[in-house]
Amino acid sequence: MDASLAPVTVPPGGQIGGTNSGIVARYRAKTPGSAELAREAADLLPSGIAHDSRHVDPYGVYIERASGAHKWDVDGNRYIDYFGGHGALILGHCNPTVTAAVADALSKGTQFGASHGLEIAWARAIMRLVPSVERVRFTSSGTEATLMALRLARAFTGHDRMMRFKGHFHGWHDHMTSGYTNHFDGSATPGVLDGVASAVTLVAPGDIEAVRAAFAAHNDFAAVILEPTGSSFGQVPLRPEFLHELRSECDRAGVLLIFDEVVTGFRATAGGAQGAYGVRPDLSSFAKIVAGGMPGAAVAGRRDILDLLDFEAMAKSGREKIGHPGTFNANPVSAAAGITCLGILADTDAVDTATATAGRLRHALNEVLAETKTPWAVYGTFSGFHLFMNPQHRAIDPLAFDPFECSMAELKEQPKHLASRLRVALLTCGIDTNGRIGGFTSATHTDADIAETAVGWREAIAMLRAEAEL
Ligand SMILES: Cc1ncc(COP(=O)(O)O)c(C=O)c1O
Repeated sequence: MDASLAPVTVPPGGQIGGTNSGIVARYRAKTPGSAELAREAADLLPSGIAHDSRHVDPYGVYIERASGAHKWDVDGNRYIDYFGGHGALILGHCNPTVTAAVADALSKGTQFGASHGLEIAWARAIMRLVPSVERVRFTSSGTEATLMALRLARAFTGHDRMMRFKGHFHGWHDHMTSGYTNHFDGSATPGVLDGVASAVTLVAPGDIEAVRAAFAAHNDFAAVILEPTGSSFGQVPLRPEFLHELRSECDRAGVLLIFDEVVTGFRATAGGAQGAYGVRPDLSSFAKIVAGGMPGAAVAGRRDILDLLDFEAMAKSGREKIGHPGTFNANPVSAAAGITCLGILADTDAVDTATATAGRLRHALNEVLAETKTPWAVYGTFSGFHLFMNPQHRAIDPLAFDPFECSMAELKEQPKHLASRLRVALLTCGIDTNGRIGGFTSATHTDADIAETAVGWREAIAMLRAEAEL
């Protein structure tokens, strides 16, 4: 028997943390240092964490260091990292050129309270890759970038209403909360004003007729915002034709089109999803890769729209400028990382490498599913992967699975308990995915990582079977 499948001795009292799962027991046995830190954090931070998607049952691992495609926890366990810094790390952890640029910038100062040359170079690095970008305003996070994109759209068009697609994520500001994982009727989530929620129209993703109907019903749309490859980097994929149709409908209705390229930017292709599909949005939001693994983001696009942030342009036109401070906007250390990372993406085949690796990873994981007769499928596009957990028990061949045959609800639905156990089982096998059991590849993941992941995947499935979870 594989050593990692050996029975686990359950401590006196039988149950550990409210469960007698051998998977959880093995996880606890491997991660005592993380358990201790999690106990300490629970007193100080809500749920002991700083980001909802780091919530793990019974607790998440505490990471001490990372390099390339791997990271190590406080107990010395090594993980193949598919969380990928929430998608920020297309070059993997600690790319030496990016790290050197960050160290150099850090040694010169972290906050000048003044303009600096790196912000110009950073904007140029974005424009070099994304032709729709005529001007850039830096922000500190993707949430801020989409918030500013909406504000620009409202001020530019003089209209109030926004269109979003169900399941699409654009950060956590007030316009973006309903309709991501719940409140699909558009009602306000806790703490959000009804008036804000009701100014957002939620539409089924990919449904161009629903878009047309909404445009016909309301003549006060300022903008449509979407994740251009579909929600959660294509967990619910969109057909490229939809993007072209949407562009045409927006043009017809005089509505601005915003691509939220926080994840897809510089990942789908070096020119983002807009580069992959040849659709030119009016505005784009960028974060994650744009700042090379450091905090930083941008709203970018048409010069005449970004002019709403420009003192001189607004004085000349007699319009009121949109105010936009932000202490860490275009932070020089983030700028150094962003310039260096985007330069590497422009000059090398790093994006294609990450994409090709993800294709081989999906195939390897699906081979295991087929061999073990596990009724799931791993799918995805570009450098991403997602797990379909088949809630309606379809007869599927994982190696030929087509997500377009499934509804959004089917693709998103994952038995919470099972997904949670699988996540922990994978961690015990040295594999870190996101909570939906998906993730990103980087240009540093190798075929050896894929082979090791396939072995861990097989083991994790066997563990679930041994506990009658599957
Ligand atoms: C598509 C998309 N938009 C916006 C955001 C928000 O970005 P941030 O976490 O930097 O606020 C995210 C974050 O994951 C995202 O995936």
